[in-house]
Amino acid sequence: MSQKVWTAVDHYIDGLLTREDDALASARKSSAAAGLPEIAVTASQGKLLYLMAKMQRAKRILEIGTLGGYSTIWMARALPSRGRLVTLESEAKHLGIARENIARAGLTKLVDQRLGPALKTLPKIAAEGGAPFDFVFIDADKENTAEYFGWALRLSRPGAAIVVDNVVREGGVADAKTKDPNVKGIRRFHAAVAREPRVSATTIQTVGSKGYDGFTLVVVSR
Ligand code: SAH
Ligand code: DHB
Ligand code: MG
Repeated sequence: MSQKVWTAVDHYIDGLLTREDDALASARKSSAAAGLPEIAVTASQGKLLYLMAKMQRAKRILEIGTLGGYSTIWMARALPSRGRLVTLESEAKHLGIARENIARAGLTKLVDQRLGPALKTLPKIAAEGGAPFDFVFIDADKENTAEYFGWALRLSRPGAAIVVDNVVREGGVADAKTKDPNVKGIRRFHAAVAREPRVSATTIQTVGSKGYDGFTLVVVSR
């Protein structure tokens, strides 16, 4: 069982359950055309984020790592009309492409894009003292994932859900001797979750058109 089969199954699911509409298809295409890395979540993963945000009845969503706004569009669609999604991105070029994609999806009013390294923006968001987030998606540089988790916890309400992408890295996460800084970051994140008494969490391994990876779901205690 390998990449060819995983991709075929994703195509099968996409044809039935997670078909992209024009806004999502153009978001993916325009990001690729602009030379952005093709690392957005897949359609089935985007739909999972949408469904989780719905289950959470999220009114305030925080995303760390916008890229071209593909995952942003999926999650913003789960919001009620007066909801808000704040998304953090360090690359001005990515933010600009995302802005166009979010506008094409008709979601500009719901989405607040912030430029800068997330570790600089997160303290500002905390200082603004707005309502806490109901749902957080962490998907930026993997080295800082443990720090992003700390901020997510601080900025979340009791009962909030925090989803973290790319936490298995082709199984690299199980290698205690790894020298890969991304994998080290993900292992530090898992250790931080394990010693945090205010949350309950699991990590799910996934395969699909993006290969073998996984995500963590963290739920904050009520
Ligand atoms: N969530 C997107 C994919 C994000 S890819 C999707 O699924 O559609 C990771 C993004 O994080 C990239 O755009 C990268 O520029 C951004 N990033 C990397 N380091 C960052 C940092 N320190 N602060 C904020 N964003 C960062
Ligand atoms: C990478 C980042 C991602 O967010 C992703 O989903 C896949 C790969 C990366 O930096 O390699
Ligand atoms: Mg990712």
